[in-house]
Amino acid sequence: MSTEQRKLRVGVLGCGPISQAAHFESCTKASNAELYAICDSADDLRERMAAMWAPKVACADYQAMLDDEKVDAVIIATTDAFHVQLALMALKAGKHVLCEKPLGITVEECEELVQAVNASGCVFQVAHMKRFDGGIQAAHDFITHDMGDLVAYKGWYCDNSHRYTVTDAVQPKMITSAAKRKPAVDPKSDLQRYYMLAHGSHLVDTASYLAGEITEVEARFIHRGGVHCWFMDVAFANGTLGHLDLSVGVRMDWHEGFQIYGENGSILGKTYNPWLFKSSDVDIFHENGAVWSRPLAADGHFYRRQVEAFASTILNNSPIAGTTVEEGLYIVKTMAAIGESVRTGRAVTVASTRGAV
Ligand SMILES: NC(=O)c1ccc[n+]([C@@H]2O[C@H](COP(=O)([O-])OP(=O)(O)OC[C@H]3O[C@@H](n4cnc5c(N)ncnc54)[C@H](O)[C@@H]3O)[C@@H](O)[C@H]2O)c1
Repeated sequence: MSTEQRKLRVGVLGCGPISQAAHFESCTKASNAELYAICDSADDLRERMAAMWAPKVACADYQAMLDDEKVDAVIIATTDAFHVQLALMALKAGKHVLCEKPLGITVEECEELVQAVNASGCVFQVAHMKRFDGGIQAAHDFITHDMGDLVAYKGWYCDNSHRYTVTDAVQPKMITSAAKRKPAVDPKSDLQRYYMLAHGSHLVDTASYLAGEITEVEARFIHRGGVHCWFMDVAFANGTLGHLDLSVGVRMDWHEGFQIYGENGSILGKTYNPWLFKSSDVDIFHENGAVWSRPLAADGHFYRRQVEAFASTILNNSPIAGTTVEEGLYIVKTMAAIGESVRTGRAVTVASTRGAV
């Protein structure tokens, strides 16, 4: 059978919330992938998920899943601090990797991973699923083909006080386990860092996807009234002026989006809480003809579309459509630069940034 006729056999590492809400369903629904294996060292959780999702194989031991020759690729869906080490193991076993965001938690470990990916010949994609939001993709298409010179990009990502009311209502009921494997330090013991890794990574990825690489950041931070808020002036490599707003806990509905001004038009984007599975409303003004357009992008399952694109890259030997490992590194560097700028009160060059986010 040619590779194009068969489905990619995926093994999902981690049976936690992101797999329960996104990856298991995505692999099951994907047109070109199948949920071949699942893995979690927590027996109760793994057994429950195996009963629900019926993979061919369920492993307690990650190395055993990697040793299975039928596994083509793995999705790494564990806590952030484990990503790099587990990705290195997968590459050593010759498996393609879709790794949850953020790529890692320090610049140095991500640099090591970039080298390993480049030496491996394996496909490696970082799971920034917003690149598979059809509205955001339409904005990217307009920028790439029609917008001319970019002038300015303003992006905001504001997680909100009512987010759990929404996610509890729309997500499947989460199954938890006391036996879940955890890092030595609870990631939520430092909320400022946790929010940057969890949410800032999305904000930076979307900005980079639409306006290109960020070269310098100057950030201010306030934690007041229960809201963690970063306002950031950013410079893009192509000279575009930028401003980013990351605010977690805003007292209203989910508030995420962007506005972009260019030579031949403008774009206004409104992005929804991802668990509503609704593509962003993206209004594009075409100076040529003076008309607005808004794509419907009816298929809002970003997570399934992400797996399908990953599988297509491997099965059809096509370019990576999502975030590459190099971009994943540079997103981690940008977040580390934001932290440094907040601490020092100065503008920080992303290229020179080292250390932890
Ligand atoms: N893209 C998104 O929208 C989105 C949303 C939520 C979370 N995430 C990301 O997904 C990742 C996972 O989040 P989560 O909340 O599901 O994590 P979690 O820590 O709750 O669950 C991870 C599971 O993996 C298992 N595990 C960890 N290491 C293992 C190992 N070596 N062998 C076997 N099992 C192992 C644990 O026992 C646990 O059950 C995080 O990096 C997070 O940033 C992404």
